[in-house]
Amino acid sequence: MSECVISVEGVSKSFGALHVLKNVSLDIYRGQTVCILGRSGTGKSVLLKCIIGLLDPDQGTVTVLGKRFATMTEAQRLQHRRQLGYVFQGAALFDSLTVGENVGFSLYQDRVSDDTIRQRVTKRLEMVGLGHAIDKYPRELSGGMQKRVGLARALVQEPAIILYDEPTSGLDPLTTDIINQLVLRLRSQLQVTSLVVTHDIRSAFTIADHIIILDQGRILAQGSPEEIQNSDLPWVQHFVSGRALETELLDSLGTSSYLPGPTATAAVSPPSPALEPRHPTAIRRQAIRPNAPSDDNDNPPQA
Ligand SMILES: Nc1ncnc2c1ncn2[C@@H]1O[C@H](COP(=O)(O)OP(=O)(O)OP(=O)(O)O)[C@@H](O)[C@H]1O
Ligand SMILES: [Mg+2]
Repeated sequence: MSECVISVEGVSKSFGALHVLKNVSLDIYRGQTVCILGRSGTGKSVLLKCIIGLLDPDQGTVTVLGKRFATMTEAQRLQHRRQLGYVFQGAALFDSLTVGENVGFSLYQDRVSDDTIRQRVTKRLEMVGLGHAIDKYPRELSGGMQKRVGLARALVQEPAIILYDEPTSGLDPLTTDIINQLVLRLRSQLQVTSLVVTHDIRSAFTIADHIIILDQGRILAQGSPEEIQNSDLPWVQHFVSGRALETELLDSLGTSSYLPGPTATAAVSPPSPALEPRHPTAIRRQAIRPNAPSDDNDNPPQA
């Protein structure tokens, strides 16, 4: 059995009265591609944020590459997190930096030379089909292109573990296929471990070695794609076949308050800014490239 690189043991997380994660446990082994499937609001992003130490669980432990974020200072967390690539659900790009500067952001912080950065950034952008966009600004790109820039940024440090939050949502089928092929290639050529949160069942069956279905903060089922496909649990079958569940239909009709369970009845506290990833979208170019000339495109006005 290969090394366990991510271990989540009995993790629970609440926001006020809203119990988002309830005693979640999972292990991810080196070189695996694990997909977490689950409907909206079920705690997938919160689980990813607990794994990368942006949120602290109320109970339970998360161990990544043998270390626990809970025992670390903020500086140690930043350092440990650098071994992980993270693709945010939104692209979370800096508006005032070019695509190339966004992708190379962490390399500028490491004082890597401009030429090397450009080479590495170009290679990553080409991997996601955006080599031509290196000098553009995020506002000049479509939402799907921005998402791919976020992916290139996660790859630039060549991390051994990459966590993707909805990497293919909002992308056309062709681009979705490019991303899926990329995840497959990263595993087969570089033994990268991937944890992919997605609604996209077809993508999950294309890329995953192991699928976990999360529902209302609990792991409902897990197994190989074949095991999930052949599961006789009705909820899993509903999910896999893409049919809306009765509860989801009721949710969409705004009658969810009649349903049992925390999603329906708990008071939801507003997201706390202190708990969100610190990822401003405005930054001056000189902050990452002190010698770069200031130009009129610094913090350009939004279109
Ligand atoms: N920082 C926060 N403060 C308060 N509540 C939060 C916070 N982050 C998430 N939540 C709540 O936790 C629940 C789960 O959110 P999460 O973002 O994990 O859902 P998700 O499964 O990723 O959904 P989606 O598929 O729509 O992205 C939601 O009800 C959300 O409002
Ligand atoms: Mg999410």
